[in-house]
Amino acid sequence: MWKATGRIDPDRSAGPVNRRTFGSFVEHMGRCVYGGIYEPDHPRANERGFRTDVLELVRELGVTTVRYPGGNFVSGYRWEDGIGPRQDRPRRLDTAWHSVETNEFGLGEFVKWASLADVEIMLAVNLGTRGVQEAVDLVEYANHPGGTHLSDLRRQNGDQDPYGIRLWCLGNEMDGPWQMGHKTAHEYARLATETARAMRMVDPSLELVACGSSTAEMPTFGAWEATVLEHAYEQVDYISAHAYYEKAGEDLSSFLSSSIRMQSFIDSVTSTCDAVKAKTRSKKSINISFDEWNVWYLNKLQDGGVPTDWVVAPALSEDSYDLSDAVVVGSLLITLLRNSERVKVACQAQLVNTIAPIRAEPKGAAWRQTIFYPFADMATRAKGTVVKLDVAGPTVHSDLYGEVGAVDAVCTMGTEPAEAVIFCINRSQLGSIDLAVDVRALPMLSRVEHRVLGGADPFASNSVADPGHVVPRTASGARLTNGQLEAQLPPLSWNVLHLRA
Ligand code: AHR
Repeated sequence: MWKATGRIDPDRSAGPVNRRTFGSFVEHMGRCVYGGIYEPDHPRANERGFRTDVLELVRELGVTTVRYPGGNFVSGYRWEDGIGPRQDRPRRLDTAWHSVETNEFGLGEFVKWASLADVEIMLAVNLGTRGVQEAVDLVEYANHPGGTHLSDLRRQNGDQDPYGIRLWCLGNEMDGPWQMGHKTAHEYARLATETARAMRMVDPSLELVACGSSTAEMPTFGAWEATVLEHAYEQVDYISAHAYYEKAGEDLSSFLSSSIRMQSFIDSVTSTCDAVKAKTRSKKSINISFDEWNVWYLNKLQDGGVPTDWVVAPALSEDSYDLSDAVVVGSLLITLLRNSERVKVACQAQLVNTIAPIRAEPKGAAWRQTIFYPFADMATRAKGTVVKLDVAGPTVHSDLYGEVGAVDAVCTMGTEPAEAVIFCINRSQLGSIDLAVDVRALPMLSRVEHRVLGGADPFASNSVADPGHVVPRTASGARLTNGQLEAQLPPLSWNVLHLRA
């Protein structure tokens, strides 16, 4: 039996738990909107056409913030198409996903859905094919109380109160040549700066996210962030980071160690932000909005997964997730939380059907994929302060990263009620690990509950026929005695150790 040890030291805080770490993403892509959150002829649809079974799962998932409406989609989107009487809304070609967009669902619908889902909205403006004026118009429509053309138009469309949307993305992945209106770093930097300044003239309370690189593998990564921030530093609050991981032919241990890559991405972006801070002699720090992250089988999509004809809401990237994916998602969540000092927003991409933890069958059931569980476990339990927790113990050999610690962990501590939660994975496929954590710093805690998602088959997944195949269970055997916590982490598992008074 392998052993691993750690110690809770409340002084090793990474700051408060940012609720926005548990964000998600709804893009007009595939069946995320149409057939996902919205399906008017579904038996569980409400009077607005929102699927109430999906809404229940979104609440259970504990999502706090939802980015909308894209993604690549936003770079060719005209927001005005999605407001006003439905019968007047145009059908358009969506070149991002080779689909037909009916515009049946737009901003007003999303605002109402978000209120029912109890999530904050993060709205993206189109800086691909559009610019300063359209972004400013959207802020006026959304956030101005009334008495002007666009704010009165919102009222005429039935929404008297301003939406009060605080968090905005200045475009999406503008470094990517696949994007409508793709730009050089310099072109984007100027546009983002001027758009940010103008949007804040309408509403000074906005929090703004500039586009960082689409992936850390982009040839312009680093230089892109530096150029954008050299221009936009004082106008924005965050720089975005996007990263997807998949089993793409490498050894399984490398895939299971994907969080190493995420950590190095965060380190590099943070260093770039701070280098620009020094160069511009700024007093503030730019934080990271990790507003797209997940396991995504992008290879499958690129390999004939996008239809060649133009249809409404084709099924795109409806990836089926297995246990190994859930362990990776768990370790990515641990990484995001551990970096709470700089990662202030994070959105799992996406929410329903497309690259998603929730699957919604047409006219049928909604069910939880394996990756639903680590997200829900953390989003609903992480409260108070983040405490870094290093674990010493066995390592796993991976072709891409060499020797990697088998256990990856982070802790949160709440005060009312007094509690601590340790979130950890065992990424080894070979054996259980006996974890011992010194918790003498938390003498008020005496009970522990151990919840685990594991199993013998790394490739086991849920399906519509068997949605309960991979589900968490309560494990027996965890003990908390004399300031020592002991628990057994099964091979390839996601674990929650909840300590209470
Ligand atoms: O989430 C799917 C796509 O991934 C988004 O549209 C895009 O921003 C990213 O490349």
